[in-house]
Amino acid sequence: MPRIPLLIDTDPGVDDALALLMAFNDPGHEVVGLTVCAGNVGLEHTVANALKLCEVVGRDDVPVFAGADRPLLHPAGDAGYIHGRDGFGEAGLAPAARGARDEHAALAILRLSHEHAGRLLLVALGPLTNLALALRLDPTLPQRVARCVVMGGAVTGKGNVSDVAEFNAWFDPEAARIVFEAFPRVELADWEVVLRHPLGVADTEAWMRAPGPRAAFYAAISRFTLDWWRERGHAEWCCADAVAMALALEPGSAAPLEERPMAVELAHGPGRGATVVDWERSGAGPDNVAILMDYDQARFEALVRGALAGLHEGPAGG
Ligand code: RIB
Ligand code: CA
Repeated sequence: MPRIPLLIDTDPGVDDALALLMAFNDPGHEVVGLTVCAGNVGLEHTVANALKLCEVVGRDDVPVFAGADRPLLHPAGDAGYIHGRDGFGEAGLAPAARGARDEHAALAILRLSHEHAGRLLLVALGPLTNLALALRLDPTLPQRVARCVVMGGAVTGKGNVSDVAEFNAWFDPEAARIVFEAFPRVELADWEVVLRHPLGVADTEAWMRAPGPRAAFYAAISRFTLDWWRERGHAEWCCADAVAMALALEPGSAAPLEERPMAVELAHGPGRGATVVDWERSGAGPDNVAILMDYDQARFEALVRGALAGLHEGPAGG
């Protein structure tokens, strides 16, 4: 069975890093590129972090493309308070030896969509600015994408960056609206399903004692974030992008997705960045999101554990 081409748009970011380790650890997918945006921290850091992660997993062959260094229209704050100012826990790791390609992320998304037309799995783990730029350059992009999986939103308004909004949608809601209006069906791992699938801090720390460079790397960059959760009295932590990547890599371990119309609120004020789901289909809009409601927790943890150990444990029954 040929491996599925996987293109990941990301703002690494400690949870992005675990999702990327999961992707590189999956035998059924081939990572064909990382396109990078600003979000958790500034673009110079997110690009450096993407390059560093590829080096840790021995995949300097995977191209990294720098993209948007800010939202489309309105500035937004970063999430350095939870990822560290450099996005990788201020761990002080040596920078990767290589640099990013010259091609802009939005152009790389379009080119790779042609190279892998009809088979491409596109996973977005950060603000949707690069995808929105690609769509404005070429609105036919969705026709060439087999699956689009997004980590973002809060489908009943339980946000993380505000009362109602999740960070990726909130950071660039104009981009999010462009993406959710352009793709006929986005598989969505929102913040609320992430809350239903936490990871034990102690479990994670045990998994990071596995031998090998991946576990050691992740132990170094995640300490800042795990401390953040522990200092607030939590024995569990939420790794948003890892949930989205589990859905992307092994959709068979997800409960049936709920297909609904979803819109993004742009108005400045307390509701900006909210992802408003028409649960009763009272409006005229088409279903444009397939919402992840639940995922096999044991399987999710096996994917995380395997990614840290650099070993892939296939699902029961193969
Ligand atoms: O709200 C969580 C999302 O925002 C994750 O993708 C995290 O990395 C940040 O980008
Ligand atoms: Ca992210």
